[in-house]
Amino acid sequence: MYYTKVDQEKCIACGLCQIKAPQVFNYNEEGIAYTISDNNKGTLPLGKEDVESFKAAYLACPTGAIVRSTTPFSID
Ligand code: F3S
Repeated sequence: MYYTKVDQEKCIACGLCQIKAPQVFNYNEEGIAYTISDNNKGTLPLGKEDVESFKAAYLACPTGAIVRSTTPFSID
């Protein structure tokens, strides 16, 4: 099971993650990406059907802003 969120300090608003995985990522009015399902908290697991597109987005991000974990990210 994968959890993901965007390190928004690293995101340069390139938009690739939203193109690769539009069901997982969206971006705010400044173009900074976030995860749709949990509002970038990284606390809800990806659905099985989203894993392949998530991986494509993860690999496409030019700055490594997309982070992933097999356990939920803590809320801070
Ligand atoms: Fe940002 Fe990377 Fe997506 S730079 S818009 S998190 S592909």
